[in-house]
Amino acid sequence: MMKHPSFEFDRRRFLGLATAGVAASAAAAAPFAAFAQAAGGAPLKIATIGSGREGGALGTLFAKQGHPVMFSSRHPEQLKDLVASAGPTAQAGTVEQAVAFGDVILLVVPYTAVEQIGKDYGEALAAKPLVIDVSNPIARRDGDAIVSWVAEQGGAGLATAKLLPGAHLVRGFNAINFARLPEDAHRSGEPVGVPIAGDDPNAIALATGLIKGIGFEPVLVGGLAMGKYLVPGTPLAGEHTAAEIRQIVSSLK
Ligand SMILES: NC(=O)c1ccc[n+]([C@@H]2O[C@H](COP(=O)([O-])OP(=O)(O)OC[C@H]3O[C@@H](n4cnc5c(N)ncnc54)[C@H](OP(=O)(O)O)[C@@H]3O)[C@@H](O)[C@H]2O)c1
Repeated sequence: MMKHPSFEFDRRRFLGLATAGVAASAAAAAPFAAFAQAAGGAPLKIATIGSGREGGALGTLFAKQGHPVMFSSRHPEQLKDLVASAGPTAQAGTVEQAVAFGDVILLVVPYTAVEQIGKDYGEALAAKPLVIDVSNPIARRDGDAIVSWVAEQGGAGLATAKLLPGAHLVRGFNAINFARLPEDAHRSGEPVGVPIAGDDPNAIALATGLIKGIGFEPVLVGGLAMGKYLVPGTPLAGEHTAAEIRQIVSSLK
């Protein structure tokens, strides 16, 4: 595993950046400003790496919102039903085609696949304004060794940053079950909160707009170091309102 600078989480800084004004001014000063400003609702090309249960459900939400979506698989011919149900803005491709297509990448694979994806596509992924890391290290699926390695890196956020050096990462949707996504999106009453963690202000601003667009309330809980709480089995897992997420996060300090 390659060495990677560690990130310090400064809660005040991220809470500050979460406000629209600061995010917008940060966006204006950076190379991906146009994407961050588009987060308010303009269609963006979205590609999924991983189009299984969670990747398929999430990509479908973005496609139904009008974003052009490319679902990818190592066997894209098997995605016909998914593409048909996601609607006219959806298509299928290889992982390579998806990486080339997407302005925003949803990384939704078993965690064991992330290292090879980084080796094969790391440079291209680092050039994207946003990679939403939905992937989790799960011992029963991925094995104890990778779960231990991830813990040694400081958790899934910092670990993915090592595997995808330079990528503009935001963790999100990590512990909301795929089967709940369609009914949670745009639910009536208070929206379902999505805890997110990231270190890059523009990527955070872009993710915030996209997640709001599909009918959830993103809540920035901190930098990638907080990504260790955005996995199944922590107090943040499951469905909570934004207020509940903030309450839980305050109890994590
Ligand atoms: N299921 C949930 O409710 C849920 C909720 C939140 C987060 N997650 C996380 O999301 C990730 C995916 O879970 P899932 O339940 O959606 O799994 P899944 O249904 O088994 O789908 C896995 C997907 O990953 C792709 N994939 C596997 N290895 C790959 C590789 N080396 N390169 C490219 N693509 C590869 C597979 O594509 P191929 O067609 O090429 O095999 C498949 O589309 C996991 O990390 C999981 O912890 C899942």
